[in-house]
Formats: sequence, structure tokens, C-alpha cells
Amino acid sequence: MNILILGAGGREHAFTHKLIQSKKVTQVFVAPGNAGTQKIATNIDVNPTDFEAIKGAVLAYKIKMVIVGPEAPLVAGVHDFFLADDQLKSIPVIGPKKDGALLEGSKDFSKEFMIKHKIPTAQYQSFTKNNLQEGKLFLETLQPPYVLKADGLAAGKGVLILDSLDEAKAELEEMVSNQKFGDASSTVVIEEFLKGIELSVFVLTDGISYKILPSAKDYKRIGEGDKGLNTGGMGAISPVPFADNAFLKKVEELVVKPTILGLQKDGIEYRGFIFIGLMNDNGNPSVVEYNVRMGDPETEVVLPRIDSDLFDLFEGVAHQNLHEKEFSVTAKIATTVMLVSGGYPEAYNKGAKITGLENIQESIVFHAGTTEKDGAVITNGGRVIAVTSLADTLQEALDASYKSIDEIHFEKMNYRKDIGFDLV
Ligand code: AMP
Ligand code: GLY
Repeated sequence: MNILILGAGGREHAFTHKLIQSKKVTQVFVAPGNAGTQKIATNIDVNPTDFEAIKGAVLAYKIKMVIVGPEAPLVAGVHDFFLADDQLKSIPVIGPKKDGALLEGSKDFSKEFMIKHKIPTAQYQSFTKNNLQEGKLFLETLQPPYVLKADGLAAGKGVLILDSLDEAKAELEEMVSNQKFGDASSTVVIEEFLKGIELSVFVLTDGISYKILPSAKDYKRIGEGDKGLNTGGMGAISPVPFADNAFLKKVEELVVKPTILGLQKDGIEYRGFIFIGLMNDNGNPSVVEYNVRMGDPETEVVLPRIDSDLFDLFEGVAHQNLHEKEFSVTAKIATTVMLVSGGYPEAYNKGAKITGLENIQESIVFHAGTTEKDGAVITNGGRVIAVTSLADTLQEALDASYKSIDEIHFEKMNYRKDIGFDLV
């Protein structure tokens, strides 16, 4: 069977790497992909939000399943587009329809969903420019730090955490009245600050049953010691040592089950991944956010730990018999370290030649922002390459990733030397 993966990052390379191992998969296409996916699959030059172009590719390459990597096509309705088209409607899409994608596409929607279904999360209220003054008064009732979230998608930048009340009021005004994050911030969620340690749990569901995938923790800040600007993620580890069985059982009972049941009760037919961002506060989970896709770089540590055939699981999602599918995870620990372009997450250059990749033996190299030019692999984004290793202990896995990184070079290459620092 031929399949199509939408997206271009390390997450999509990790999907490709895993799916080509399935005996049931004939050919994998990636739109648009990167230099890493091109080596093991076929890239096609199609934008994941250009649905007519996707249709053309699906028909031309006889695609029989589509796996959606990033959130943008889901929020824009790629799954709905397939269902509404006579030639596409029998082709399963792994990823929710527009209604389910609102769990990520609208913070206000996801908060309302959680409160309605009694899923533990921070108390909140939403404001627009029409009730800005009430928003400011609401801020006065909270303790610092103040958490302000743009309702819509804002490329991971729409959350502000501020210590000063005056600053929080000013930023609220910037967001709702002056469109600080464009349309995405015409509604703003203000919520209580959650204490604890953050981690992510991933769920794959066919809408009825579910599999809980390995947990992961990512390192979002650019600088060592979790300092500096937020990035898409500088590294990740899986499993999360402080997420023991007792905690994960609570997550399943208090968060996963009510989420799946809540979607059913609300008439939202959901087939795909749910990425649950959680705070562990003294052993009690509270949901920070939902995403309707896998994380990046979390995928680069989660998928390598899954022993089962991922395509078989996707067929279970497509045919709603996920509960019949075999699912097993290795006890090994996975780490990934992201190599980024100097300057990222602010301005950076593209086009630097990457060397040494062929020398890597103990790690899996997942390409993120790379492309090929004149037979060479060059940088093509801020996050360039994720180096994943598996071992019996976290320290051994980290050592393997850093040893592999010593082989890789490109101009102004940067990476965090302390991934997992808080856990070893
Ligand atoms: P979000 O896009 O909602 O995941 O927010 C981005 C980041 O802000 C999260 O990964 C957390 O680190 C932090 N954050 C969001 N909401 C809260 C909260 N209520 N309390 C504490 N930290 C938060
Ligand atoms: N690494 C965080 C995310 O994918 O949203």
C-alpha cells in the first residue's frame, strides 16, 4: 500500500523511518519532506495546506492512507476535505477533522471542553476587546505569575507568562486590541499558573478505544539550564522518570478516559493523535494544553520506542479496530538532541553544508530543516537535525547522542549540551 505523510520536520522523518519498516507499506511519499525523508522515501513538492495539490498527488501516486504531521492542515480541515470528495472519501486520514482539531486550534474551546468534562486544568476566563476592562479586573483577582494565551494558532508563540500585574494588563490590551498575534489573539484565555514539572503523554485513538504511547519531556528553551527564548524544542527524552505507573494511571483515569468520552459525548469523531501537555504537581496531573498531532522533537523519542508495526496501528485507527491491535514498547530509554542553526530561534542563515552524517553508527539521525543541493545536504531551517539514541540508561543514551554529534558539522551549528540535566 502507498501512503502519504504531510509535513517536513524531524517528526515526519521519524514517521517515515518507522512506517517503511512495515511489511504492508509499499511506498512512502512525503509532502514536502526534507533531505532525510528523500533518502528513504519519495518527496513530493506539495504544501500540506494546499488541499487541491494534495488531491492531485493522492490520485497520481495511488495513495491509500494519509498521515498528517503538523496541526495547520488539520485545523484548516484536510480531513473534512477528504470526506467531502467522492474520489478521496474512502482514503483514511490519520488526524482529526476540523471539529476535533479545535482542541489545539482554539484555547478557549479546549478549556471549555476540559471544564465541561471535569478534566483537571487551570481555572480560566476568556476575554475579547469588548470586555477588556473585565479582563484587567480578572487579572487583579489572580496571583502572579499571570498566564495569557492567544486563543488561536500562533506558531507556538502565543503564550505569555508575566510576573507584573501592570505588564499583564498592558499585554492583554496589546493582544485583544492591537492584535499582537494577529487574529489569533482577538480572544485571550487568562488562566491560573500551574506549579509542577511538565511532561507530555501521547494517545492514539480511533475515537472509541485508545493506546497510550510512551511519555516524553521536551526541552523548550534555547539555553542550557532552561534559560532564554522558547523554541520548538531543543531535545527530548522518553520515558519520563518522574511519570511512574501510579502517576500514569491517574493520567489515564482523570485525563485520557474523560477526553475520549468527552469527544464522543460532544459528537466529535476523532481519529488520530492527542498530545496532552501536563503538569505533574506532587503526583497530580493537570492539563496545560492539548495538541492534535504528535510533538516535535517528542516523536523522535516516542516512535523509536514502539516495537509494534505503526502502520498496523494506523489501520486500526482507520477501521476502528484499534483495540485488536498489538502494541508494545521497549523498556529502553530514548534521547534526542536537536542541532540548530546559530541565531535560532531568532534570525539565522540557511544553506550551510552539513558533513559527517555518514559516520553516525550508534544513533538515528532524523532530519528536520534540511534539503539537498548539488548532492550535498544543506541546512534549510532553524531546527536542522535530531540525533536520537536508545540505551539501557538515560546517561548512556545521552552519551551516545553527544558522541554522534561530535561527528556532525555545519557552520554556526548550535545545540544544548544539557538535555536531560534535571533527570540524570
Ligand atoms: P501552551 O502553548 O498552552 O502549551 O503553553 C506553552 C507553555 O507555557 C507550556 O508548555 C508551559 O510551559 C507554559 N504554560 C502554559 N500554561 C501554563 C499554566 N497555566 N501554568 C504554568 N505554565 C503554563
Ligand atoms: N515540542 C512541542 C511541540 O511539538 O509542540
